[in-house]
Amino acid sequence: MICWVHMDDTITIAVLAGTTRAQRESIKAAHYVADFAATLPNVEVIFVDPVEFTFPGDGNDPEGKDPRYSEIVAKADAFFIVTPEYNHSFPGSLKRMLDSELELYNHKPVAFAGASDGNWGGVRAVESLLTAVRETGLVALSWDVYFPHVDKMFDEQGNILEEHRERYERNLGKLFDELLWFARLLKSARD
Ligand SMILES: Cc1cc2nc3c(=O)[nH]c(=O)nc-3n(C[C@H](O)[C@H](O)[C@H](O)COP(=O)(O)O)c2cc1C
Repeated sequence: MICWVHMDDTITIAVLAGTTRAQRESIKAAHYVADFAATLPNVEVIFVDPVEFTFPGDGNDPEGKDPRYSEIVAKADAFFIVTPEYNHSFPGSLKRMLDSELELYNHKPVAFAGASDGNWGGVRAVESLLTAVRETGLVALSWDVYFPHVDKMFDEQGNILEEHRERYERNLGKLFDELLWFARLLKSARD
């Protein structure tokens, strides 16, 4: 008989912030997503801020890796990328970080949130991420969450403004349900 039940039901989600820009606003959205995930049962969250990692060279050879990032990618069962939109794409620092690994992403799900200071909420950044992510073997979910006018959505402490809270909690709840469904399924299959 095949047993699909795990001794350890905990799912580890790596929440990746998408930029190192000093005045970045999207970091508030990334922390909000991570804090939301941390309230979910049987979920462990690792917050990945690209400013805390060093990738001296391009690519995924030893000089292109940060061992701490490699360890997180190895441990993660799922990923949630929160990216701002830069020139209709996603920031180079996010690409640099993603490129540093390959096989460790394989058969793990990824969800996205976009952020911008305009109306579009970073939709073009997420769309352009899809082609890169597909090549890594990550399994992209079919819908996303967006933070338009991200600079006006959070207070000084990083709390989402009350007028947005209910809608974002509902949408993130549905997206994390989907991410966790794929994470559990794929974790069992990988094992
Ligand atoms: C280099 C650069 C390019 C940008 N290009 C776009 C863009 O193409 N489309 C857009 O909606 N916003 C663009 N923005 C504005 C971002 O949406 C804005 O900075 C927002 O606050 C999210 O990014 P942040 O985390 O860096 O603050 C750009 C910002 C920078 C710094």
